[in-house]
Amino acid sequence: MSQNRIPGSSGYALIGDKSLDFYKDPVHFCNSRIHSFGSRIFQARLLNKPTIFVCSVKGMKEMLCEKVNCFEASYTPSMCKLFGDVICFTHGEEAQLLRLSLMQLFNNKALEIHRDYVNRVCTRNLKDLEQCREPVAIYGMFKRLATELVLGIFLNIDAEESAAFFKQITELSTQHWHGLISAPVNVKVSAWSSGFSQALEAKEKLLSIINDRLRSENEGFVSKIKDVPFPENCSAAQHLLLFISALIPKALASLLTSFTIELAGSNKAHVRKCAQENETFLDHVLLEIERLWPSFIGGRRVAKQDTTLCGYTVPKGMQVMFVAFAVHRDPEIFADPDEFQPERWSGRNAGQETLLCCFGNGSRNCIGIGLNDMILKTAVGYLLNNYCWEMDPPTQSLHYKWLPVTRPCEDLKMKFTLCSYKSQCSSSTPECSAHHERSV
Ligand code: HEM
Repeated sequence: MSQNRIPGSSGYALIGDKSLDFYKDPVHFCNSRIHSFGSRIFQARLLNKPTIFVCSVKGMKEMLCEKVNCFEASYTPSMCKLFGDVICFTHGEEAQLLRLSLMQLFNNKALEIHRDYVNRVCTRNLKDLEQCREPVAIYGMFKRLATELVLGIFLNIDAEESAAFFKQITELSTQHWHGLISAPVNVKVSAWSSGFSQALEAKEKLLSIINDRLRSENEGFVSKIKDVPFPENCSAAQHLLLFISALIPKALASLLTSFTIELAGSNKAHVRKCAQENETFLDHVLLEIERLWPSFIGGRRVAKQDTTLCGYTVPKGMQVMFVAFAVHRDPEIFADPDEFQPERWSGRNAGQETLLCCFGNGSRNCIGIGLNDMILKTAVGYLLNNYCWEMDPPTQSLHYKWLPVTRPCEDLKMKFTLCSYKSQCSSSTPECSAHHERSV
């Protein structure tokens, strides 16, 4: 076993902390260190803890798969308080048993009962976009769509029939969520505490609503979760709180926004046409969106024992973070890593989708992958089948922020027009590979 020291420095407590630098511009933070250390693994002090940043596919796979037992999830006490006793904070065998039980609610057969609903809500939210007088701010639109889907699927709350109730829950989830994001970055302790206590109040109100739904509903997800053999009575409600958290609509809206931006404009008509006609090509487009613009920055762990990553020594107690956008742009695996090239997934990178970590990786990956897949494909399918779209105005800032979810700093505006692809593009190869140019 090699005993190499990880490049970089974790500095001294407090004065050596680099959290502000990281949260301000994580891309610059990682890329500048990768460049100066000549290594996709390095260390720095984050949230005042020595932290290893993993930016290579090999390092991510080692951390989340091969050496999964050497690491456990590392969450702040405030996160545990805001969500209670849920799968994310559970370790080892207990976590695996809980996952097995929860997966019954997320397997393909169980998800089929939501398909009609997902179709209906996507149609309702995405129809008549061509009639909007003003260009559409897309992130906001997708977040509203995803919130409606999440509350309908998990709590049987219909945004049209129960508009006031829907609004109340959406506001409470936002308040709950603000407590979470204010914690690590806000240096004003008093402001943080008040945000945090408001979040705890929102949590109690949400739990009370969820418990009412658990008692009154006899169908759908909220009814089925009652059959899951949780260790505690309150676990069903706490997991529902996690599933309706504002984080999930944001993550879905992030991917839908990046998809819409990447395929915008007349120069992308042939890509949209191929994606509409060829399901495999659409899969490859979505993989490429996940690769370039993963919704979340990554995930954190702590070493349970002395171990190594890519040959570097990792002492017990060390924090480790995989950085999804940097892993996804590892040039060892992804040639021309910054280029949008869906065709790579049928060529050089065919069969390598397990090297991505947009949804985590290994035995603790996201349990919502199937549901996300259904939602993403239904929404983008509707867009592709009905519209052409372009930025309006044509020049807007494409500058991205990566926290709390990946999205343009300014909500981009698009004009949608009804579209017949036949009139736009007569020549398409199965993979549409040769024709497109990159616009983001
Ligand atoms: C675009 C949407 C989503 C994205 C990008 C996403 C991403 C992720 C990622 C990256 C992880 C792993 C975190 C880590 O390793 O530290 C994760 C875990 C998880 N996700 Fe998702 N997720 C999404 C939607 C969902 C949905 C819809 C659900 C279910 C309702 C869900 C439930 C979970 C759970 C329970 C875990 C923790 C699993 C465990 O600890 O074993 N996610 N997700």
